[in-house]
Amino acid sequence: MVQITFITNGSMLVQAPENSNLLRVSLRAQAGIPFKCGGGLCGTCKCRIETGLEHTDKVKPKERKHLSDADLEAGYRMACQTFVNGDIAVSWERK
Ligand code: FES
Repeated sequence: MVQITFITNGSMLVQAPENSNLLRVSLRAQAGIPFKCGGGLCGTCKCRIETGLEHTDKVKPKERKHLSDADLEAGYRMACQTFVNGDIAVSWERK
């Protein structure tokens, strides 16, 4: 299991199986990462991996449409396109 800390939601701590999709974990736990399409199109689920970026999978081409190189370097990902294989902490802009 991996531990995901949802910083923007009072640092809510959620356990999930390895290689879980970040948006799905958020939905199941009602952790609050914003979303619309769930399919990598709208960009609503933009979030920042504050710690544990190395515990996320490779950035998908769909993400690059919404995230600049600077965003990616700063740890931004799209939650619906991100799979988690170790402990992370994530924040996002409240919408
Ligand atoms: S929810 Fe639309 S891109 Fe992730």
